[in-house]
Amino acid sequence: MARLSITGKIHQFLSTEIHPGDHVIDATMGNGHDTLFLSKQVGDQGHVFAFDIQPEAIQNTREQLALQPFQNRATLLLKSHASINVSVPIHHHGHITCVMFNLGYLPGADKSLTTQIESTLSALTQSCRLLAKQGCISILAYTGHPGGMEEFDAVKDWADQLSDNEFTVSTNNLLPNHQHPPQWVLIKRRS
Ligand SMILES: C[S@@+](CC[C@H](N)C(=O)[O-])C[C@H]1O[C@@H](n2cnc3c(N)ncnc32)[C@H](O)[C@@H]1O
Repeated sequence: MARLSITGKIHQFLSTEIHPGDHVIDATMGNGHDTLFLSKQVGDQGHVFAFDIQPEAIQNTREQLALQPFQNRATLLLKSHASINVSVPIHHHGHITCVMFNLGYLPGADKSLTTQIESTLSALTQSCRLLAKQGCISILAYTGHPGGMEEFDAVKDWADQLSDNEFTVSTNNLLPNHQHPPQWVLIKRRS
């Protein structure tokens, strides 16, 4: 049996959390793999709001979606995820069932253009306010590139101060024997 990639494992988990008709967010569009996954999950009645600050990411994602019969399910925004709150229409606030973050740099592009602690934490704080009850935020943090470990530590410290009454937080080391293992932080809003 084929072994699942790290993102494959995350998609497998999230496929049980996201249902047809849901409205969801890809906070770091990159090459569009997560936007494509989310678009499949939400069906014709749902929608994906996807963010990236690099035109190349929008282009790559648009090309991925163009191969599919459901390209209208996603709005691709050339905007920082720090503007999530003002970019997602207000009637969806409190009803978003999943926000995905895949931190780091755009594979195949300039590796010095990475997600940054300040905008990541701002976007995470805003995402908490947009979440539906039982909605989740999935954060995949790579720790091997410059600044990656510091960003993961900042995300973990931020997540640890969330109210226990409102959210559950779990952190998973996805490659335990790896020198710089990717870390997956999952935040779930309680019902
Ligand atoms: C590891 S890649 C994401 C991979 C992507 N999820 C996929 O499925 O291919 C990280 C992306 O975050 C983007 N990024 C960096 N800062 C950002 C910001 N402030 N707002 C939105 N995206 C940002 C980068 O341009 C890069 O494309």
